[in-house]
Amino acid sequence: MNRIVINADQGQATISRHLYGHFAEHLGRCIYDGAWVGEGSPIPNTRGIRSDVVEALRKVAIPNLRWPGGCFADAYHWRDGIGPKAQRPRTVNIHWGNVVEDNSFGIHEFMDLCEQLGCEPYICGNVGSGTPQEMLDWIEYMTFPGDSSLANLRRANGHPEPWKIKFWGIGNENWGCGGFMRPEYYADLYRRFQIYVRNYGDNQITKIASGMGGPFIYGTEVLMRDVYKPGGRNAINALSLHYYVYLRETDFSATRFGEDQWFTTLQKTLEIDDYIKEHIAIMDYYDPAKEVGLIVDEWGAWYPPEPGTNPAFLYQQNTLRDALVAGLTLHVFHEHADRIMMANLAQTINVLQAMVLTEGERMLLTPTYHVFDLFQGHQDATRLALHLDCERYSLGGKSLPGISASASRKGAGPVLLTLCNLNPNTDVDLTCELRGMAASSVSGRILTADQMTAHNTFDNPNAVHPVAFEGARLGGNGLSIRMPAKSVVALTIQ
Ligand code: AHR
Repeated sequence: MNRIVINADQGQATISRHLYGHFAEHLGRCIYDGAWVGEGSPIPNTRGIRSDVVEALRKVAIPNLRWPGGCFADAYHWRDGIGPKAQRPRTVNIHWGNVVEDNSFGIHEFMDLCEQLGCEPYICGNVGSGTPQEMLDWIEYMTFPGDSSLANLRRANGHPEPWKIKFWGIGNENWGCGGFMRPEYYADLYRRFQIYVRNYGDNQITKIASGMGGPFIYGTEVLMRDVYKPGGRNAINALSLHYYVYLRETDFSATRFGEDQWFTTLQKTLEIDDYIKEHIAIMDYYDPAKEVGLIVDEWGAWYPPEPGTNPAFLYQQNTLRDALVAGLTLHVFHEHADRIMMANLAQTINVLQAMVLTEGERMLLTPTYHVFDLFQGHQDATRLALHLDCERYSLGGKSLPGISASASRKGAGPVLLTLCNLNPNTDVDLTCELRGMAASSVSGRILTADQMTAHNTFDNPNAVHPVAFEGARLGGNGLSIRMPAKSVVALTIQ
């Protein structure tokens, strides 16, 4: 028996559009080849930024983009990426294969990318190898409206107006690649650095502390205990959490797997909910008023890299399984939308669980991209109260809920109901009772395929793509839905 009850007139938290955010690091082919091809490239571009990628990401209303890392951020010095390109230094990307970084993509290029995408920039500053002075200068360069030397340098480099920056990260994974610090040491450094993250003119920065990896809750405890002061000096506005469905064992593969690995992947995906709850419990203890937001600014599936590619470039394919990873994770974020203010999929292009893959002038949209498309209507909508009873999906003595569901609505507009069927073998029938609205029509789209391993390739870029869904019928006070095995469905009910 699979049954959903939706209270269409009982709105809960707003699902911020920023839960649908992205992350682009100087890693492998994410920035170079992925976003940036250079002004002289035969690949269609605007001021060096790939037009096809911009068009694809605009279609899913990308709300924000985190940059320049990741681990790269704590070795990045912003002055390397400004001024005439020929004079920019050639530096070594120590975290990602020691490749030489020519710094042709710097602040101005990143801000141009965000403007072309129509999204908010989220910059991660350098704590690991940087100084408070460097961070102070960086923010002045970008946002100071007056007649200072740094603001004038920005003008000389082609940007007269100050930029607006809403989101500023103070380091990344400072317990790991960002300095291997103890939480107490990072908390002290954070207190010092954040003082120099200044608001100029009417720019208002959300200060984001680099938080912990999924299961490690102690860093959250220390930050909330030692930095946050209720109603206080606004030293911390958000802290971050990273969670990867990390399956790098060599017997895992992004495209060659059986049902056992399908199951394990989805099981690990759902574990994010436990970790989020643990971090939120600590935050609720210190901050019941929810002044500090939680930001999951790196998430996604991490498999061994595609054979034949540079292992330091973290290039992996993306199958129908990744569509389920995305759908389930986004539903978890919705559940905690009163505390989670942002999330960033890792990473946008050609790295880890990418939205798009590129090869020369060719580009393909991954199954993950299509989930962001199907779920687009949740952005800035009100999450609706939803109750789900469902059968379990079992394998080898373990089981998971067979279905995941989330519903939202903007005002009195249509209800968007998104559903995932985790079971790769069995279609499921479910009833959906709608309370608080009289529905007169339903339409939908579905993402599925014959094989769990189905994916898009440059020769067959549309093997997995959404099609119209005919399996939902209105009747009584709700819907009856027949959901195919291993599928993601989006229904619009009005
Ligand atoms: O996304 C790849 C890497 O994963 C990031 O650079 C780092 O923050 C995390 O460990």
